[in-house]
Amino acid sequence: MNKVEIFENERATEYNQFVETWIPNYHYFMDSLPKLLGETENKTLLVVGCGTGNEIERFLSATEKWRITGIDPSPEMIKQASQKFSNFDNVNLIEGVVSDLDTSDKFGAATLLLVLHFMEDDGAKLNLLEGIAERLESGAPFILLDITGSKTQIKENLEVLRLLLPKNLDSDDVKNRLHRIENELLTVSEERLSQLLIQAGFEAPLRFFQTSIYMGWMTRKK
Ligand SMILES: C[S@@+](CC[C@H](N)C(=O)[O-])C[C@H]1O[C@@H](n2cnc3c(N)ncnc32)[C@H](O)[C@@H]1O
Repeated sequence: MNKVEIFENERATEYNQFVETWIPNYHYFMDSLPKLLGETENKTLLVVGCGTGNEIERFLSATEKWRITGIDPSPEMIKQASQKFSNFDNVNLIEGVVSDLDTSDKFGAATLLLVLHFMEDDGAKLNLLEGIAERLESGAPFILLDITGSKTQIKENLEVLRLLLPKNLDSDDVKNRLHRIENELLTVSEERLSQLLIQAGFEAPLRFFQTSIYMGWMTRKK
């Protein structure tokens, strides 16, 4: 099983406030998802690491009707998402990891947002990407949002992020979190991410979005 970074209790509750503060242009990115995947013929979507369901919400307000499977190993995240989407019969939420899903039903598209940088590049990242590829039909689009970059790139973009943060944050908290991002997250360079995706069975990815350390990537299952 992949290493799991589980978001529990207060972390899950405060999650939405956290992403809005720490990811500049978060809403812009999330709002663009249904547009980016809008021309996909098979409108079955696999949302890996769906958390509280922020990306699922966007697909539910799209004009096209999607059938959505959201999967996340955190019981607390899945609980919050379930409360939000209890009235939608086109949303299926699963507490678990991708390898728990059957490989016989192939999805038409997938997303993996803000998950990969918590996993080691010791086979865990590759394993997750391969697991997603295995459950997608050929040609299916796949969108990723990840903290990506070489050590220098991350350091320089963290300085950009610091400048973009709201001014009312506690300065020690800011310092600690920037330090944690630089030293504890399991980020890889753009080249390595591309290599991992190709090895997992995807086309060479396109970086279509960037806000400081966060990069948005688009590719397709081969
Ligand atoms: C930072 S949150 C992102 C949530 C959501 N994608 C978003 O953008 O709002 C990361 C999520 O990944 C989940 N996660 C951790 N390890 C995972 C794994 N191996 N497979 C799928 N999800 C995982 C965590 O439980 C957490 O909900």
